[in-house]
Amino acid sequence: MAPKKHKTHNTRRKLISKLNPMSPISEQFRTIRTNISFASVDKEMRLLMVTSSGPGEGKSTVLANLAVVFAQQGKKVLLIDADLRRPTAHYTFGLTNTFGLTTVLTKQGSLNETISKTEVENLHVLPSGPIPPNPAELLSSRMMTELLKKAKEDYHVVLLDTPPVLAVTDAQVLTNQCDGTILVVSSGKAEVEEVKKTKDLLLSANSNLLGVVLNNRKTQHTHYYYYGKE
Ligand SMILES: Nc1ncnc2c1ncn2[C@@H]1O[C@H](COP(=O)(O)OP(=O)(O)OP(=O)(O)O)[C@@H](O)[C@H]1O
Ligand SMILES: [Mg+2]
Repeated sequence: MAPKKHKTHNTRRKLISKLNPMSPISEQFRTIRTNISFASVDKEMRLLMVTSSGPGEGKSTVLANLAVVFAQQGKKVLLIDADLRRPTAHYTFGLTNTFGLTTVLTKQGSLNETISKTEVENLHVLPSGPIPPNPAELLSSRMMTELLKKAKEDYHVVLLDTPPVLAVTDAQVLTNQCDGTILVVSSGKAEVEEVKKTKDLLLSANSNLLGVVLNNRKTQHTHYYYYGKE
């Protein structure tokens, strides 16, 4: 029997921070943006990645919304879909995935001509491109390091989406090249032991772990409505 597909894995997604910037959820993303900016006094947080221990915890959702709120702040932002296992950025932003990160890494196109503009001002996206047979190898290549260096020269903020840490090594390969790593944990879904193991794996890969975003937490509305200026 064919495996069940993720319901919204391959459809256009709605981005709350773009559609409803005044909602309490968008406010939460702006709080995360502020926390990132203050995460380090010595080092500017320019190249960031999100990951999680398991699949479907909300990495891509958190990353895409963070990209929007950074762009809304007037920062020039590049979102790179480095999840070469289950890429979604092209769906989220309504782009084709014929060319992308893997096109640049295999020298079939330049970074500038492969990046796409989005409907969000200041926000550009590099989709994954065709899925290769050897993702970890490509992501740990010299080309990837050069690509990230060039991206940092051209953009104020570069955000990387990655696959889950406990499934494959891709995130561990990338984490030490990033200024900071954010761990997305799905409340009630992720096991404590697995999150601990993920943290240890990231730290042993020289990760600058900035913190955890707890996703899918049940909220008490009274508290949150206080901040909404609808
Ligand atoms: N807080 C939330 N409330 C409701 N739905 C959510 C929330 N966070 C994520 N989702 C939905 O859950 C699904 C999985 O989220 P997402 O694709 O962001 O996870 P992921 O960690 O990137 O998954 P993968 O491991 O497949 O890359 C998506 O359909 C997304 O729209
Ligand atoms: Mg994802």
